[in-house]
Amino acid sequence: MKTRITELFGIEYPIIQGGMHYVGFAELAAAVSNAGGLGTITGLTQKTPADLANEIARCRDMTDKPFAVNLTFLPTVSAPDYPGYVKAIIAGGVKVVETAGRNPEQVMPYLKDAGIKVIHKCTSVRHSLKAQKIGCDAVSVDGFECGGHPGEDDIPNMILLPRCADELEIPFVASGGMADARSLVAALAMGAEGMNMGTRFMAVREAPIHEKVKQAIVAATELDTRLVMRPLRNTERVLTNPAVERLLEKERTLGAALKFEDIIEEVAGIYPRVMIEGDMDAGAWSCGMVAGLIHDVPTCKELIDRIMAEAETMIRTRLAGMLPDAAAAAA
Ligand SMILES: Cc1cc2nc3c(=O)[nH]c(=O)nc-3n(C[C@H](O)[C@H](O)[C@H](O)COP(=O)(O)O)c2cc1C
Repeated sequence: MKTRITELFGIEYPIIQGGMHYVGFAELAAAVSNAGGLGTITGLTQKTPADLANEIARCRDMTDKPFAVNLTFLPTVSAPDYPGYVKAIIAGGVKVVETAGRNPEQVMPYLKDAGIKVIHKCTSVRHSLKAQKIGCDAVSVDGFECGGHPGEDDIPNMILLPRCADELEIPFVASGGMADARSLVAALAMGAEGMNMGTRFMAVREAPIHEKVKQAIVAATELDTRLVMRPLRNTERVLTNPAVERLLEKERTLGAALKFEDIIEEVAGIYPRVMIEGDMDAGAWSCGMVAGLIHDVPTCKELIDRIMAEAETMIRTRLAGMLPDAAAAAA
C-alpha cells in the first residue's frame, strides 16, 4: 500500500507504533519495522542521552529498516537533557522523530538540518496547524479514545480526523482507537494516510513487557479505562485498577484544591513496576479504549500482515462491492 506516509518514511505499510514509556524499547521498534511498519524507540525511557545512543545502536543491530525515536516534551519542573537526546538521535543516524507534548519548535532547526523527518503527535486541529507551520513533515492525530494523554478537548476521531483533513496540507495518520483493518480503512476514508497504534502494540509477542500486562489488555473491555489528572489539566487515559479508583476518589474529594503531590503515590515511578515487574496495581498506566478490540497476542508480523490482508479484502470486495458498477459487473 502506497500513501504519502509510506513515501515520506520509506516504509512498506502505513502503520506506525507510537512511542510508549517503558514499552518502546529496541526489541519492539525493530520488530515493527521488520514487519514493514515504522517502529519507535521511546527516548525518555532511556535515562541519559548515552543510554539512548546505546538503544538506537541495539535497534540498528536488529533491523536495517527505518525506525523512529519519540521525544516527549513533558510538563516537568526539571527538564530532561533534550539537547543531549537530540544529539544522540542525530549521531545515531535516526531518520524519523515522533515529537509529542509541547510543540517541538525548539528542536526543529537541529532535526531539520540533520535531514530528519518529524511527525508531531497532537490532539487538536489547532495544534496540528501549528505543527505544520513550524515545519513538521506530518502529524499523528490522537483522538479522545487514545491511550495516554488525549488533551483537554475530548474530540473523538470520527470528528477530529475529517476536521484535520479539511485543514491540513501535510499528511497525517490517525492515532487512538486503532487496532485492525477496520481502523486502517476507516482512517484512510477520513483523510488520514495511515494509522498509529499504541495499546495494540503492547499486546504483541515482541513487546518486552511483563506477560501480565499483555493479558490485562486482552482481558479488558472498552469500558475499563478511566481519565485521571483532569483537574491538573494533564489528563491521561489509563486502565482502571484499585490504585486508579483511589486516585479518582482523591480527585473527587479534593476538587479544585488537588495538587500533583496528592496523587504522587498513584502516578510517580509506576511504569517500571508495571511493565517490568508485572505489579499490575502499582498505579496508573496508560491504556486505550481500544483494549476492547484486542483479543490476542500475535507477533508484529502476524498482526501487520493480518491488517494489510484484511484491509485489501475490505477495500476490493466489501467496499467496491457496494457500488452499482461493481454489482452490475458481478451480475
Ligand atoms: C503504555 C503507554 C505509554 C505511552 N507513552 C507515551 C510516551 O511516552 N510518549 C508519547 O508521545 N506517547 C505515549 N503514549 C501514547 C501512544 O504513543 C499513542 O499515541 C496512543 O497509545 C494511541 O492510542 P491507542 O492506545 O488507542 O492506540 C503511550 C501509550 C501507552 C498505551
